[in-house]
Amino acid sequence: MSAPLLWMIYGATGYTGRLVVAHAVTQGLRPVLAGRNATKVRELALSHGLDYRVFALEDSEAIVEGLRGLESVLHCAGPFVHTYRALAKACLRTGVHYLDITGELAVLEGLHRMNDQAKKAGIVLMPAIGFDVVPTDCMAMHLAERCPDGDRLMLAFGNFGSRISHGTLSSLLTRIGESGAERVDGKIQPRPVGRLLERIDWGDRSSWCISIPWGDLFTAGICTGIPHIVTMTTASRLLHRILKFQFIFNPLLRMRMVRRFLQGKVDRSVWGPSPLELEHGSAMVYGRITNPSGVSVEARLQLPESYRLTALSAVHLVQRIPELKHRGMVGFLTPAQAFGPKLITEIPGCTYLEESTEASPSL
Ligand SMILES: NC(=O)c1ccc[n+]([C@@H]2O[C@H](COP(=O)([O-])OP(=O)(O)OC[C@H]3O[C@@H](n4cnc5c(N)ncnc54)[C@H](OP(=O)(O)O)[C@@H]3O)[C@@H](O)[C@H]2O)c1
Repeated sequence: MSAPLLWMIYGATGYTGRLVVAHAVTQGLRPVLAGRNATKVRELALSHGLDYRVFALEDSEAIVEGLRGLESVLHCAGPFVHTYRALAKACLRTGVHYLDITGELAVLEGLHRMNDQAKKAGIVLMPAIGFDVVPTDCMAMHLAERCPDGDRLMLAFGNFGSRISHGTLSSLLTRIGESGAERVDGKIQPRPVGRLLERIDWGDRSSWCISIPWGDLFTAGICTGIPHIVTMTTASRLLHRILKFQFIFNPLLRMRMVRRFLQGKVDRSVWGPSPLELEHGSAMVYGRITNPSGVSVEARLQLPESYRLTALSAVHLVQRIPELKHRGMVGFLTPAQAFGPKLITEIPGCTYLEESTEASPSL
């Protein structure tokens, strides 16, 4: 029997961190818990009978000391744009694999720039092992295999019967009022949020979706090489109409005072989905790839509620990291790049639905 993995959950006391800890414990795993707030970390660790360490991310030597003796760290303390660099750098110094649950484009790009250093250090850098991007990354690779000459990819997701968490909203606020993005000719280019509107048929329901800048613009580009990618999510037509005037209100939303006000409101009133929402909510991913002749292949994934899925997928992937070392795979890897498009079906409650291929009307 192989020795149990020595791993840490940093940011364990946040909304998602606690879900990850709870799921790990139900799997009989014993992660070391960590964070910057001694009282919260100690209380959580004692309630589960787990070891804990306390360190902030401002002191690089303290982080190196905090990672001592570990094999992997799962970083759950976001917004990651403020936290990833210090922890990833300490991982490079200590030879500890780095995993996180970000979906932030700038963070994905920043970690990818550390690829060569990670390879030299013999570590895996695998960000975005939550709802964003595990199912969509698998969907991207699945479609790319079905349509190898596809050059246009559209990925859409919806989370139904649930709500957003404090950390996700805080991460969105770090970019509120800024441009959206799309991948065009292999490069991530600024494009207005909501530039595209499409009615998505999820299989058992349909809803309007608008284009938004999502982590897959980076990761799907890396794992499939597809040059044109858009990412979309559910939104009302009213929001789409309002976004047509974003050039007027975006400068206001970028003001530090306005962001601070909105962050204060989020801090006071948002925590995350309730236990009932986690259990009964659900999520869907829709993907469509199109080749230069206009032939499209589409597919759908049925999923558990997105925060529940994040806990399930993050714990699952951390446990599979040692396999990568045996296969000689180190450096920056997306989840599907490392484990293939069927990875998502290893996670309870996740299934691909029936697929269809459509010929373009012009053919
Ligand atoms: N990819 C996905 O699908 C997915 C899913 C879920 C969440 N997320 C992301 O995960 C992150 C956490 O979300 P959440 O809702 O769990 O957030 P949360 O409830 O606000 O918790 C954030 C955690 O991070 C810690 N933290 C924040 N800033 C820190 C810093 N500068 N240094 C050290 N620790 C810091 C907080 O510690 P204190 O208590 O000490 O403040 C807390 O433990 C967000 O960025 C969110 O977008 C992504």
